[in-house]
Amino acid sequence: MINIKSPREIELMRKAGALTAKVFEVVGPLVQPGVTTKFLAQKAKEVIVNGGGICVEEGYGGFPGEICVSVNECIVHGVPSETKVLKDGDVVSLDVVSLLNGYMGDACRTYAVGICGEDKLRLIKVTEECFWNGVSHIKEGVHLGDVQEAIQKTAESNGYSVVREYTGHGIGHEMHEDPYIPNYGKAGTGPILRAGMTLAIEPMVMSGKPAIRILRDGWSAVAKDGKPNAHYENTILVTKDGYEVLTLHSDI
Ligand code: MF3
Ligand code: CO
Repeated sequence: MINIKSPREIELMRKAGALTAKVFEVVGPLVQPGVTTKFLAQKAKEVIVNGGGICVEEGYGGFPGEICVSVNECIVHGVPSETKVLKDGDVVSLDVVSLLNGYMGDACRTYAVGICGEDKLRLIKVTEECFWNGVSHIKEGVHLGDVQEAIQKTAESNGYSVVREYTGHGIGHEMHEDPYIPNYGKAGTGPILRAGMTLAIEPMVMSGKPAIRILRDGWSAVAKDGKPNAHYENTILVTKDGYEVLTLHSDI
């Protein structure tokens, strides 16, 4: 069942979303050659805790890190490490969930580290376009499949593929609620969106083939072919005439 949030819950979702947005404002500029993925994860946690929130990915299902920090061929669930030092030309995604007053804000950004090649910059740009093309369809009454198809078409028409094993999701009081939102699908299919639904839309785009494997840490999902990936995510609210992105700005 897909939850419809009350006006009070929507207000709390906005606040949680704003705290997640703040993480990127503070930690984004720290993404530089020479820093470790653990340093970035610890800084992210600091922002969440200082803002009165809970860094809720930490320990979630046993996840051994503060947030997910995924580098290059790692597509999601990268485990922060003291020994993983970023270098020029890496792409790194920070996937952050804050829990504030009982509600969640989930978002992800992919950054180019230092001097980075055109191919990786294009991958990051197209992944963001996947998100915006997808959500451009959102308003009360449309099928979720319209969003999914737009994401898939944007990725594939640019020569990329979308990951199959991980999906976007409803979000609210829980990190993962109904519906599940694959980054592929058919327009005119799937659940019909209603005002008050809150969804995490998260294109995970692979520059190579869409096959993954899990590293021995039990979490890090990497491209089998070793090619780089990007991930862009926001928590959004479905409205009567469109949508509101809840994780873009910290000043609400
Ligand atoms: N942020 C991820 C998502 O979009 C979940 C991370 S899994 C965790 O669903 F274990 F790290 F929390
Ligand atoms: Co998510």
